[in-house]
Amino acid sequence: MNNEYDNKKFFGEYAKMPRSKNGLTAAGEWHQLKPLFPLLQGKKVLDLGCGYGWHCKFAAEQGAAHVLGIDLSTKMIEEAEKRNTQNQIEYRVCGIEQYEYPESMWDCVVSNLALHYIEDLEKIFQKVYKTLKPDGVFIFNIEHPIFTAGVGQNWIYTESGKPEYWPIDNYFFSGERNTKFLGCDVIKQHHTLTQLLMGLLNNHFELGVVEEAKPPKEMMDLPGMKDELRRPMMLLVKAIARK
Ligand SMILES: C[S@@+](CC[C@H](N)C(=O)[O-])C[C@H]1O[C@@H](n2cnc3c(N)ncnc32)[C@H](O)[C@@H]1O
Repeated sequence: MNNEYDNKKFFGEYAKMPRSKNGLTAAGEWHQLKPLFPLLQGKKVLDLGCGYGWHCKFAAEQGAAHVLGIDLSTKMIEEAEKRNTQNQIEYRVCGIEQYEYPESMWDCVVSNLALHYIEDLEKIFQKVYKTLKPDGVFIFNIEHPIFTAGVGQNWIYTESGKPEYWPIDNYFFSGERNTKFLGCDVIKQHHTLTQLLMGLLNNHFELGVVEEAKPPKEMMDLPGMKDELRRPMMLLVKAIARK
C-alpha cells in the first residue's frame, strides 16, 4: 500500500513541522484532545497511525500497562522507536486496515490525524468496537469534513496573497481527494459528518464528546493560526463502546 509518509521528501518536510520537533505541546488540538482521555493507569492502549509515537508516550507516562502503536510507515515507526520508547510501548509497522483487532483486548483506542487516510471507515469503527473492552473508549481526531471537502484543501487567495475564503464542493461525494500537503501529492479520504457520527452510533458506540479544534490563545499569534477560526480543520470525537 502506498503511503506518502515513506516518501523521503515528504518525510523530511513532516520532520520540520512544530509538532514533529516539539511533540504534543506544539499541536494546536492537544489542549482539546488531552481531556478526552480516561484514566490510563494500568490500562491497555492502542494507537492507530501512531506516527512518531507522541500519544503512545503520553499513555505510558499516564501509567498505561501496555501500549501498542501501529503505523503503515516504516520510517515513522523507526522515528517513534528513536524518540518515544518506554518499556510498556510496542511499535509495529502495520496498516490500520490490516491490524487483527483481537476481541475485547483494549481499554482505549486512540487515533490522531490518521483516519482521513482510510477509505472504509465504518469497517474500522466495527473493528475498533470489537477490540475494545466493554465501556472501552475510542478517541480520535480526524480532518474535519469541511476541511476534506475543501476544493484542493486550500484557501482561495486574494491578489495580494491573503486567504479570502475556504471553498467547499462535492460535499456529499465521499471518497478520494487528491491534495497538496507539505508540497507533495497526498491522497486523503473525505467522509461526511453524518458518515462519521452515524458510523459510530450505528455500530453500538455512545457519543461522549464531539469537538472542533480551535488553537489555544497562546498559539494565536503564530503564522496562519487566526485563520484556523475561519473554518474547522479537525474534528475530535470521544466514543464509548457499550456492550
Ligand atoms: C499526520 S500523521 C499523525 C501521526 C500521529 N498520530 C500524531 O498525531 O503525531 C498520520 C500518520 O498516519 C499514518 N497512516 C496513514 N495511513 C495509514 C494506514 N492506512 N494505516 C496505518 N497508518 C497510516 C502515516 O504513516 C502517519 O504516520
